[in-house]
Amino acid sequence: MRDLVGPRFLDEPQAEGGRGPPGRRRLGRRRPGAVRLADVGGMEEVKERLEAAFLAPMRNPELRRLYGKSLRGGLLLYGPPGCGKTFIARAVAGELGANFLTVSLSDVLDMWIGASEKNIHDIFETARRQAPCVVFLDELDALGAKRSRTHHSGLRNVVNQLLTELDGIASGAGNEGVFVLAATNVPWDVDIALRRPGRLDRTLLVLPPDAAARESILRYHLRERPIEAVDLGKLVKATEDFSGADLAHVCESAAEAALLDSARSGSVRLITTKDLLGAARQIKPSTEPWFAAARNVAMFANEGGLYDDLLAHLKRKRKL
Ligand SMILES: Nc1ncnc2c1ncn2[C@@H]1O[C@H](COP(=O)(O)OP(=O)(O)OP(=O)(O)O)[C@@H](O)[C@H]1O
Ligand SMILES: [Mg+2]
Repeated sequence: MRDLVGPRFLDEPQAEGGRGPPGRRRLGRRRPGAVRLADVGGMEEVKERLEAAFLAPMRNPELRRLYGKSLRGGLLLYGPPGCGKTFIARAVAGELGANFLTVSLSDVLDMWIGASEKNIHDIFETARRQAPCVVFLDELDALGAKRSRTHHSGLRNVVNQLLTELDGIASGAGNEGVFVLAATNVPWDVDIALRRPGRLDRTLLVLPPDAAARESILRYHLRERPIEAVDLGKLVKATEDFSGADLAHVCESAAEAALLDSARSGSVRLITTKDLLGAARQIKPSTEPWFAAARNVAMFANEGGLYDDLLAHLKRKRKL
């Protein structure tokens, strides 16, 4: 079935045999489950930053030496849920293979009893050993919660250990070759010390996808599904303010509807524009509550312009 009906969209010329443009038929070479940066829709600013700070210097050691660029640094991604923070980290992992380590709170809690600081240290030691390497701290708010707020002294030690590791002072070689990527949707709960220069010194806001990004996210989530000439333009218009996760959900629900029909009628049918628009109507953008909470922080706790980009976005959207 999949071979018979490659992804097809209304706005592009049909190649011979209805197989879609050649560029999109490279699925055979993909490792199962591996996501690449090209699969991430939108997020241009984040991609650009990763490229400039780490990926390009990593791939070009001679240029790095020429320009005296160090291969270390940190980037904190924040924004509403479902907009691709974890997803883009998976894509960086897909690009780097073994040189990518993920640290999540569950890892640390797993190793809880007395040993968590040592374990954080071990993770960073591994990263330094296999540099160039990216360490990804997902849900940083849980791991690096403001020390004043964490009454549990064990967790406070974990934050302190994290600070030590980010500074690289614990090890002779320092953190050359180690890039730290972190994500959170409550940056205001992250210890400010983690955001000082040399640590996670850059912060980027990851917003819900604009029209062009929505189109590419929809293409990605429909790429291996049997679809009838889908009017992407219409679908993009109908999904304003949707997050990437919402869009993935629209595609999933439309597929579910077509599957159920096919199972009931005994004859396989393709996913239609109507299925997708119907699914989109059922879903409310899931980012609204986040913006409602973020609005207060941006207005009343924007110390040092930390949330200027958030304010600018809210103004653009007339939500202030
Ligand atoms: N830019 C994107 N391109 C393609 N798919 C996306 C994109 N953003 C989100 N998605 C889809 O939505 C899912 C959820 O996104 P992800 O887990 O990255 O959100 P998040 O920003 O980490 O949210 P949270 O803040 O809740 O952790 C992804 O697994 C992916 O299927
Ligand atoms: Mg996430």
